Amino acid sequence: MTELKTECRLILAPMQGLVDPVMRDLLTRIGGFDECVSEFVRITHTVHSRPTWLKHVPEITNGNKTYAGVPCVVQLLGSDADNMAVNALEAVRFGADKIDLNFGCPAPTVNKHKGGAVLLKEPELIFHIVKTLRERLPDHIPLTGKMRLGYEDKTLALECAAAIAEGGACGLTVHARTKVEGYEPPAHWDWVRKIRESVAVPVTANGDVFTLQDYLDIKQVSGCDSIMLGRGAVMRPDLARQIKQHERGEQAEEAGFDEVMDWIRLFFDLCLQKEANNKYPIARLKQWLGMMKRVYPEADTLFERIRTVKDTEGIQAVLAV
Ligand SMILES: Cc1cc2nc3c(=O)[nH]c(=O)nc-3n(C[C@H](O)[C@H](O)[C@H](O)COP(=O)(O)O)c2cc1C
Repeated sequence: MTELKTECRLILAPMQGLVDPVMRDLLTRIGGFDECVSEFVRITHTVHSRPTWLKHVPEITNGNKTYAGVPCVVQLLGSDADNMAVNALEAVRFGADKIDLNFGCPAPTVNKHKGGAVLLKEPELIFHIVKTLRERLPDHIPLTGKMRLGYEDKTLALECAAAIAEGGACGLTVHARTKVEGYEPPAHWDWVRKIRESVAVPVTANGDVFTLQDYLDIKQVSGCDSIMLGRGAVMRPDLARQIKQHERGEQAEEAGFDEVMDWIRLFFDLCLQKEANNKYPIARLKQWLGMMKRVYPEADTLFERIRTVKDTEGIQAVLAV
């Protein structure tokens, strides 16, 4: 008899400057993801135009799905509830069908303008933002939130989670670190459990899942069956695929570097299709190899070979062999 497995949801993390539309396209083609989230779209005083929404989230024109058919959520970052609602409604008018709110970004410029993690100091403001958007968005548009455990410490973690849930979000992702902890390990997965046990909405656990074993550990410690993968999914592009193989009761097969090379070539082609000027595709490839070299020694060798190449033809020649 086949063993019954719990349903497991894998979400590709929003990562500004790293998981852009091209990287979302590539990673969702490789497989294993159930959903992805756009890089944050910052809301200040203006109302974004259609071209701006489509630049950040081109998936909107494809039924909010990546090329491979994986749903993509639009993430907003800001603190002006009214203007965020106006912008969210515009995004919906142009086709967005799910909105996520960022309460975790640690960037100083963003925090200085009262956006991202700094809001974790003010659960009442978080509640007001979520409630305002929930009231103004049509009922059929799901609204979710993503938070860290706090700004300086974790004393307001449960309050912030409650603010998001009680404000009307139908789901909550927890990056299990405070703002001051940055990206330093460890992620406090036990805190995700505390939050999960304290709110009435489904919680997605996030932070430091780099391997299949990390996935099994975060699932066990947090008690969540929805997990978000960030840097680990960029460094190990088949991480979600391995996890899903394991969940189906199959042997998880790690990709060999031949297959990774095919993804590298595809990624470079997709970057070229997006912006043919030399700078973007080369910068993106170098950034990705710089991360993958921590997992694949071959990526390090390739990185060294393209390090000083400045034109796309030169890169293509290196990638062809
Ligand atoms: C370069 C970078 C950019 C990020 N941008 C965003 C963002 O736009 N929105 C957001 O909610 N989180 C953002 N994050 C946080 C990630 O979504 C995730 O919560 C964090 O990286 C922890 O997960 P990980 O340990 O699996 O990488 C970013 C993280 C990194 C490293």
